[in-house]
Amino acid sequence: MLDSDAFAIVGMAGSLRSGSFNRALLQAMAELAPDGISIDTFDLSPVPLYNADLDESVDGGPYPDAVRDLRAAVEQADALLLTTPEYNWGPSGVLKNAIDWLSRPAGASPLNQKPIALAGASKGMSGTGRGQLQLRQNLLATNSYVLQRPVIQIGNAKDHFDEHLRLVDEDLRTRICDQLIALREWSRRHQPMSAPLP
Ligand code: FNR
Repeated sequence: MLDSDAFAIVGMAGSLRSGSFNRALLQAMAELAPDGISIDTFDLSPVPLYNADLDESVDGGPYPDAVRDLRAAVEQADALLLTTPEYNWGPSGVLKNAIDWLSRPAGASPLNQKPIALAGASKGMSGTGRGQLQLRQNLLATNSYVLQRPVIQIGNAKDHFDEHLRLVDEDLRTRICDQLIALREWSRRHQPMSAPLP
């Protein structure tokens, strides 16, 4: 049953490949969302590379349709959930590109004061910790409210998903629920300020 009063999260995965652990993680998180929390996933595949000539907020435009859809989805969401691979110690370009489209106009963008949780999975041991740290830095620039704990950083991803990319780690399933509940509480504590800071 659709719960229209649910805390509405929009989730985006920073990997486009079909066998992606981060897409599988986002899917698992959507399925594990506890009562009163809903997660809609937004597919970043159609979002083109950022081009200021197409950016309505900086005298360009019109926005490509996928960018208009992306911005509308984020504006309407109570909070965001970003699952990112770690590429070269940073977040994926796919995710960074989406953030760039969402970041304008500075100080009044859809990301301004938006509560956000991060999660990620990598094949290596680091579990995307370095990528998430860079992502946090990017989201400082957008004045977003990034949840601090619990973190979801899954190293050796193959050990936590089965061959059908289903999450099989019970501890992780519990931590995911904890993170989603924490995001809702975090959001309640960080209601947007009516006037922007100077
Ligand atoms: C990687 N990978 C990787 N892993 C890691 O732990 N730290 C890193 O810095 C990188 N760098 C990196 C760069 C590039 C270009 C690729 C293609 C891969 C491995 C990466 O974590 C692994 O491929 C994940 O499975 C990618 O996420 P998805 O696609 O499974 O969601």
